[in-house]
Amino acid sequence: MASTPPPPPPPAPPAGTLPVLAGRGLVKRFGDVAAVAGVDIDAWAGSSVALTGPSGSGKSTLLHLLAGILAPDDGGVWLSGERIDRLGERQRSAIRTRRFGFVFQQGFLLPELSAAENVALPLMLAGTPRRDAVDAARRWFAPLGLQGLERRRPGELSGGQAQRVAIARALVGQPEVLFADEPTAALDTAAGAQTVDLLLRAATEVGAAVVVVTHDPDVADRCDRQLDLRDGRLVGAPGMPEGAPAGAWAGIGR
Ligand SMILES: Nc1ncnc2c1ncn2[C@@H]1O[C@H](COP(=O)(O)OP(=O)(O)OP(=O)(O)O)[C@@H](O)[C@H]1O
Ligand SMILES: [Mg+2]
Repeated sequence: MASTPPPPPPPAPPAGTLPVLAGRGLVKRFGDVAAVAGVDIDAWAGSSVALTGPSGSGKSTLLHLLAGILAPDDGGVWLSGERIDRLGERQRSAIRTRRFGFVFQQGFLLPELSAAENVALPLMLAGTPRRDAVDAARRWFAPLGLQGLERRRPGELSGGQAQRVAIARALVGQPEVLFADEPTAALDTAAGAQTVDLLLRAATEVGAAVVVVTHDPDVADRCDRQLDLRDGRLVGAPGMPEGAPAGAWAGIGR
């Protein structure tokens, strides 16, 4: 079936390693709009990549494709060599819960739970007993500068503190990939810089690959790599070749 050769891989893989997450030939259309129009992208463990570009360029859509939130119209996504975009919703949901972490612009903390319980939630959802989950959650507070705030409700935290709680919640399950969509957009410059520094350091410590969507050049500069999107394509990268088959690119699929 695969008669057209795959496009060249994106640049700069750390020597000898396979990406933990790979998107190939990704296309997503909304009506006539190709929000993502043929993107190849890799993410490596312990490394961060920033997705930049103007509003409407497809950053969030690309993140949602990579995270299994949206299904691509063409192309595919591989997690540690396993194709995940064709799995059923239940399996993709399990991957999102157990193998991915998410930080959004608004932390979406549950207001009636304490900060520690919010962080513990993903572990409890994965079946860890409550006490063990809260103990594990508490260990994240000091490294993220949150010591003493474990019992606070989200409404009693500053924006930056709440976002660090959201980062702890995203990392407590030691995900393989941490996805962040504008994680500092609601913060001022100083809090944003501190938050992204902590996010990148903490994610690197658990060995997660980080994919962060951002408008902020300061945030992008802190990441190991930057990929710029325009009209659903990576700037400087070839789009999907005409007639290329969906997925199954060399070296990635099973
Ligand atoms: N659910 C949807 N239905 C229809 N069109 C959509 C949908 N989601 C995104 N789009 C369109 O796809 C394009 C890319 O949107 P996307 O949200 O990925 O951009 P973005 O780069 O994240 O922008 P921003 O920086 O404003 O968040 C836009 O033209 C947008 O209007
Ligand atoms: Mg967006």
